[in-house]
Amino acid sequence: MCGIVGYVGPRPSTDILISGLARLEYRGYDSAGIAVIAGDGVLSSRKRAGKLQVLRDDLAAHPLADGTTGIGHTRWATHGGPTDANAHPHLADDDKLAVIHNGIIENFAALKADLLADGYAFRSETDTEVAAVLLGREYAASGDLVAAFRSVVARLEGAFTLLAMHQDHPGLVVGARRNSPLVIGLGEGENFLGSDVAAFVEHTRSALAIGQDEIVAIRPDAVEVTDFAGSAVEVEPFEVVWDASAAEKGGWPSFMAKEVSEEPEAVANTVRGRVRDGIVAVPELEGLDEVLGEVSRVIIIACGTAAYAGMTGAYAFEQWTRVPVTVELAHEFRYRDPVIGPDTLVISISQSGETMDTLMAVKYARERGAKTLSICNTQGATIPRESDAIVYTHAGPEVAVASTKAFVAQITALYLAALHIARVRGSLTDAEITAHVAELEAVPAGIARVLETEQAHIEQFASWMADTRSVLFLGRHVGYPIALEGALKLKEISYIHAEGFAAGELKHGPIALIEPGQPVFVIVPSPRASAELHRKVVSNIQEIRARGARVIAVAEEGDVAVLPFADEVLRIPLAGPFFEPLLAVVPLHIFAMGLATAKGLDVDQPRNLAKSVTVE
Ligand code: F6R
Repeated sequence: MCGIVGYVGPRPSTDILISGLARLEYRGYDSAGIAVIAGDGVLSSRKRAGKLQVLRDDLAAHPLADGTTGIGHTRWATHGGPTDANAHPHLADDDKLAVIHNGIIENFAALKADLLADGYAFRSETDTEVAAVLLGREYAASGDLVAAFRSVVARLEGAFTLLAMHQDHPGLVVGARRNSPLVIGLGEGENFLGSDVAAFVEHTRSALAIGQDEIVAIRPDAVEVTDFAGSAVEVEPFEVVWDASAAEKGGWPSFMAKEVSEEPEAVANTVRGRVRDGIVAVPELEGLDEVLGEVSRVIIIACGTAAYAGMTGAYAFEQWTRVPVTVELAHEFRYRDPVIGPDTLVISISQSGETMDTLMAVKYARERGAKTLSICNTQGATIPRESDAIVYTHAGPEVAVASTKAFVAQITALYLAALHIARVRGSLTDAEITAHVAELEAVPAGIARVLETEQAHIEQFASWMADTRSVLFLGRHVGYPIALEGALKLKEISYIHAEGFAAGELKHGPIALIEPGQPVFVIVPSPRASAELHRKVVSNIQEIRARGARVIAVAEEGDVAVLPFADEVLRIPLAGPFFEPLLAVVPLHIFAMGLATAKGLDVDQPRNLAKSVTVE
């Protein structure tokens, strides 16, 4: 939540800050602001409630005196509503000092009381302004920005990334992080800070990830990283694998449309380099083989769509590895005192790698001796850094707030990890692994076919349904988490009531919701894999149809059993039972996007949400 960017170098900083914020806007978009130290050495700032465009328009109408040192922020409100006053940067020390912040300063009330007692005044309701005023007080005493900043961050509790600059020190931006992301971009005679690499990838692909409780000072020709006590810290540079164009819309009407179209590559790129001669060998897991051979249980933790990816992948994971697998929402897992230890493998799934609930659950599991594996899409993010092993999903940057291509990549990565572990443990033969790999490798073409043959049809009937007030989704087995994902995507971007159910649960209550005209999506499993499961789902369709439901079946090509009972049939190509969900989810992503578009909503930036949820 909240996007942060910083720049020092020879170039005018306003454009660099604004284009960095545009790439980070998915992290929060209820207000935005920048501060720059102009050529005359004066710090000036502009901030506006609303999306980044409001700030852009304001700057176009009334430009700031530009400078070559600056910080910028796009906000997802925590303390204080989305107003101009609460937007960042927050100024202190007679407006010579500017601070931006991501996270929550938990002890801000006590610090504020102390500052008020000292006669300081506040212009906003934010916790951030408390840090700014405190820094102003410390700086006034010493005149040393880095030392004052160090002393302030050591007094803060909670989660934060903070950046600060002072007009007495043009060419210097200081930053700190605790449980919140911050990465450094290394340029030629210029340096950058960002909440993630998207902030600066158009300028440099050379980056440094800052560790927990570390402080960085960037100058045009130097980067200095220390811990909170001031001792120097060695940081390993890494090369950003995304290029700048990957984070551009590239002619698509929305990032979500682009990202749905990239679902085939998201799967293909995640598989690439992890299969040798038809056998899965995930290089990132090899160091852990001994442990993987011995674990006696697996717990998958994640939130939202990532949790549904975990639920989907868990069926095959358990069957292939013969290790019991459970899936839990990260925020529930951590607070229920789970029984875990060195024989437990905790797999976290997170697109951003920054979701605070998931991060805290990973730390909790690690402290209790569990082995931790992170499935993540973002290089240099915090969760992979806190884990024993990482399997990156190579979905490319996901900018739309609603997750789509990351979902299919996450299931793919789970399958690869499961097949790797099955090989290590000998729970599958090489021939079985090769057969599953062949099915996995066929998925990108299958998704591409769904996009090609069904997208226009789905968008059309989604547009006819723009006035629909409620949509239900049913599935069994691996179709159940797909139903949950379909419902989440719809409520998230269309603001329509939507619920997913296990089809077998229908008669235990939800069937009471069915009334004439109620749209219900049903994920129909292949009759080839399990005639019994298929029969049961077709019976469920008949039960709801008899009560007037309008049935939209997602069924494999050639399944004619659904035809008499379905109002619409969305076809997916034939696939093995564990691979069908990777195809069946695509029509649901297209439908949610089509309906939201028909309602005239912003599919990329739905209300009240942010992509990277860095508060608990
Ligand atoms: C839904 C969605 C969210 C995220 C969840 C976890 O479309 O995007 O439910 O899946 O907030 O985010 P990550 O994967 O970044 O941990």
